[in-house]
Amino acid sequence: MRKNIVAGNWKMNNDLSKTEALLADLANQTKTSNAEVIVAPTFTNLYQAYKVLKSTDIHVAAQNMHYAENGAYTGEISASMLKSVGAEIVILGHSERREYFNETDALLAKKVDAALANDMTVIFCFGEELADRKSGNEETVVENQIKNALFHLEASAFNKIVLAYEPVWAIGTGETASPEQAQDMHAFIRKTLANKYGAEVADSVSILYGGSVKPANAQEIFSKPDVDGGLIGGASLKAEDFFAIVNAF
Ligand code: G3H
Repeated sequence: MRKNIVAGNWKMNNDLSKTEALLADLANQTKTSNAEVIVAPTFTNLYQAYKVLKSTDIHVAAQNMHYAENGAYTGEISASMLKSVGAEIVILGHSERREYFNETDALLAKKVDAALANDMTVIFCFGEELADRKSGNEETVVENQIKNALFHLEASAFNKIVLAYEPVWAIGTGETASPEQAQDMHAFIRKTLANKYGAEVADSVSILYGGSVKPANAQEIFSKPDVDGGLIGGASLKAEDFFAIVNAF
């Protein structure tokens, strides 16, 4: 059976001292749900997060990585470097990477390959923009994002892939997809996977929803059968709010 997962994407927030305070708060929270918990601090705070959280069952993820193993890529970070500081999970394809750093499906396919070659778990993000939804193209856009970046993989690779559907119009806007909109898209994503890899693979992949998830709306969203958790931005920056979401299952 697929896992429930709640992942906090801290984005470009928190210097070391604020990160230490948040990590201490997180380590003090009580988990009452069965969800796997992941947090993704900035690169500079990954090792600190690993050291504090290794005695808990909270996992540490990076927010991005380069596809090359090493070399002349000034400012970039490789999969093996992430693993060396305790991050075994990486978020790839976030809409902010696509929008502000011109990350394309083709580039993301290379990053996914590099992460998997290093035995990392990938949280692969995708989602339509407002204009796509207004024109009724949201399923086509999402299908293409998944196909272009992932459908060169063998079925077995999906053991190490978590999908995160994040409609761009719902990220950081306070506007959430309705639980029905999330369920409809998640069911479509699972059908897209099933058509390519079969029902067994499709049913085994966790599909997270991201976009203005908060303690007040998490339970209703997570109650939908194809929603296996959330990728949380703003509300992951306070330990109490984040754990209210973790415990919403
Ligand atoms: O990665 C997280 C998503 O971008 C959602 O962010 O919860 O602040 O809307 P948000």
